[in-house]
Amino acid sequence: MQLHMESIYKSFRDKEVLKGITVKMENGVYGLLGPNGAGKTTMIRILADILQPSKGQVFINGQDKNTCGDDYRAKIGYLPQDMNFYPDFSGWDYLQYVAALKGIPTDESKMRIIDLTNSVGLTGDLRRRCIHYSGGMKRRLGIAQALLNDPQILILDEPTAGLDPQERIKFRNIISAFSKDRIVLLSTHIVSDVDSIAKEIMMMEYGFIKKPQTGTEYIRLIENCVWTFQIPVSELIVYQHNAVISNVVPKGNTMEVRVIDEQKPNNDAVQVPPNLEDAYLYIFNYLSNKHKGEGKVSPRQSDLSADYN
Ligand SMILES: Nc1ncnc2c1ncn2[C@@H]1O[C@H](COP(=O)(O)OP(=O)(O)OP(=O)(O)O)[C@@H](O)[C@H]1O
Ligand SMILES: [Mg+2]
Repeated sequence: MQLHMESIYKSFRDKEVLKGITVKMENGVYGLLGPNGAGKTTMIRILADILQPSKGQVFINGQDKNTCGDDYRAKIGYLPQDMNFYPDFSGWDYLQYVAALKGIPTDESKMRIIDLTNSVGLTGDLRRRCIHYSGGMKRRLGIAQALLNDPQILILDEPTAGLDPQERIKFRNIISAFSKDRIVLLSTHIVSDVDSIAKEIMMMEYGFIKKPQTGTEYIRLIENCVWTFQIPVSELIVYQHNAVISNVVPKGNTMEVRVIDEQKPNNDAVQVPPNLEDAYLYIFNYLSNKHKGEGKVSPRQSDLSADYN
């Protein structure tokens, strides 16, 4: 399976939200990371065939999706960021309804609903009205409906919002098992959601996207650049201006800070192993400065400008 977006632009009135997205995805889990308003949902809705791009094309196995008719949607499972439920529907009614919309025969859909609700842990709640489900249960119901047609491409917009840690692990296991021989794209702004599950990660900001890379490749970008040290609270502002602070923990009268800086930030700083969250903060700090026309660009950051132009 191959999904390819070629030079996708999208504007809403005079606001350009996607500015030339080109991405090729093959089987496996892809994480789409980006802050609020980056354009993740817009990109996902184009892939889910809910929105048309202003310019550009989407290809599935080399064929333009607009020439595939209903075949394209039949291959897609989509979990929207915001889901609405009819007030009278039970979980069971809702899944039957979605199955009917997807054209799945009733006897087939019954078995499928039983299997899927078992995998997402909703079996005991199927007869309850779904508007009374908790946030996490609604998400799990959403994941089940996205999987109903056994899609080749599964697109999940913020699938883990509202899930507790145990549910997140369950979710990861479902997705990992499912992603064999298929494409899964999941958007989030929570780095840990994609860290362990995604084969490759795309970072998105200001309508641009960085080509998919592994978490290890992102982390390599800030190798030897992550430090911790303690400072009085009054000095925090100095580091806020000169480096990217990835964490601050109060320690008695001082603060222990975790900083991403290409130079050793002070004599007491101790180098620590970088993680994906550090890389995310580093990249978005660079992009945000670039967008505002502020801040210096370091040699490592200039490597990024080849991908975000
Ligand atoms: N239908 C629309 N009409 C006008 N503007 C829109 C529409 N949909 C999205 N936008 C704008 O496009 C930009 C990107 O929105 P989008 O929902 O794609 O971001 P996102 O990355 O999914 O954010 P979040 O993490 O908050 O879900 C925002 O500025 C948003 O206001
Ligand atoms: Mg969104």
